Amino acid sequence: MTNKNLVVIGTHWGDEGKGKIVDLLTESVTAVVRFQGGHNAGHTLVVEGKKTVLHLIPSGILHPNVRCFIGNGVVLSIPDLLKEIQELENAGVAVRDRMMISLDCPIIMPYHVALDQSVEQRRGNQKIGTTGRGIGPAYEDKVGRRGIRLRDLLDKEQLVFKLEELLHHHNFMLEQYYGAPPVTLQACLAASYDFLAELTPMMGDVLSALAGFRKTGASVLFEGAQGALLDIDHGTYPFVTSSNTTAGAISSGCGVGPRYLDYILGITKAYTTRVGEGPFPTELKDDVGRRLAEKGHEFGATTGRPRRCGWLDVHALQRVVEMNSLTGLCITKLDVLDGLKEIALCTDYEVDAAGDTTPVYEMMPGWETPTESVKSFSELPENARAYLARIEALCGIPIDIISTGPDRSETIIKRTLI
Ligand code: GDP
Ligand code: IMO
Ligand code: MG
Repeated sequence: MTNKNLVVIGTHWGDEGKGKIVDLLTESVTAVVRFQGGHNAGHTLVVEGKKTVLHLIPSGILHPNVRCFIGNGVVLSIPDLLKEIQELENAGVAVRDRMMISLDCPIIMPYHVALDQSVEQRRGNQKIGTTGRGIGPAYEDKVGRRGIRLRDLLDKEQLVFKLEELLHHHNFMLEQYYGAPPVTLQACLAASYDFLAELTPMMGDVLSALAGFRKTGASVLFEGAQGALLDIDHGTYPFVTSSNTTAGAISSGCGVGPRYLDYILGITKAYTTRVGEGPFPTELKDDVGRRLAEKGHEFGATTGRPRRCGWLDVHALQRVVEMNSLTGLCITKLDVLDGLKEIALCTDYEVDAAGDTTPVYEMMPGWETPTESVKSFSELPENARAYLARIEALCGIPIDIISTGPDRSETIIKRTLI
């Protein structure tokens, strides 16, 4: 089928394995688009044993002819973007001639990073546990209608005028409220304007380019960052990121209307993890939790922080299916559950008078035969298939892809999506 637009969304608190699946599915598309978030994301791709970690660049980049887009919904750290491009180029991946970055992307400036860190420090034990990359403050300036966008680099005089105003505002907060050093105009220009010549060939009208693909029947893949439970509106507020991470963000984040999305795939880890602070009802602080962390190598791809681990929260997933209108699921890291005697699925929450949440579990038998690297569904142990079938039944949508290892090839495709 032609002209099928595919969406990949994380269903929990991020790090579900979106990067691996986007890379895999890119084989069948013309373009891959990021539409929200920033370099708080860390997407890991493993191809024939070689690992690549991407933060801003769409996870389709390893496929030589695919076009990659950064939509207006993404907050852009220019030095980090260029560093990532350079690293890919050093590894022999051509990037610049097939990347387009929206002129409307808000730019992350040094004062955003300083504010992110100052706000977190002041919050003390109430901190969010952000990635400290200026994401929240950059989105605040965007909705405050005072942010600097990529297109602002095209007029230096106006840019300096706007930056001086912003520095006045933010340095007041940094110095007077947070007791932090001020940020200079020089530092802001060095993180933005100074790269104008390098950026210009990649700057463009993403909305028009994507409309062009639609008109020619080319398929496009939209790559979500973070996960639905980190969504600014639907997530575990205030322990969330500052963007909408759900499928609804695609239209606002790159200009492709909701009618043009054909298949929305939720990426769900076979258990649940979270990095940073905030509620996590199914968190396991025991040996099983430690075992999941160890076997799943659960350390953040962006900050290196250990990820908290727990049982799969299907109760939360049911809401996520609804809010994203998910078509199907991809279950990743099934292999990490290999060898467990019993596996629990959280199907409900009990909330007491004090507001504390206790998960309600359904117990499933584990499996002895490893699923690691298995590439066909029929080779999965019966209990693993029963586990997957139970998730399908509870969510009311099919599991179309199963991932059994980090490598692109360690995947079971039950249904071809495009
Ligand atoms: P993303 O942010 O959703 O792209 O996920 P990350 O890349 O941050 O984290 C997922 C981690 O799990 C990465 O280290 C992947 O290489 C790894 N991974 C992905 N799928 C699988 C899988 O099926 N099995 C195992 N063992 N590891 C996987
Ligand atoms: P990917 O795309 C996991 C978390 C941070 C913190 C909260 C807010 O790799 O799944 P922010 O810096 O965004 O203001 O931090 O969100 N967070 C992520 N957790 N994976 C991510 O991205 C994340 N991006 C942000 O840990 O709890
Ligand atoms: Mg990640």
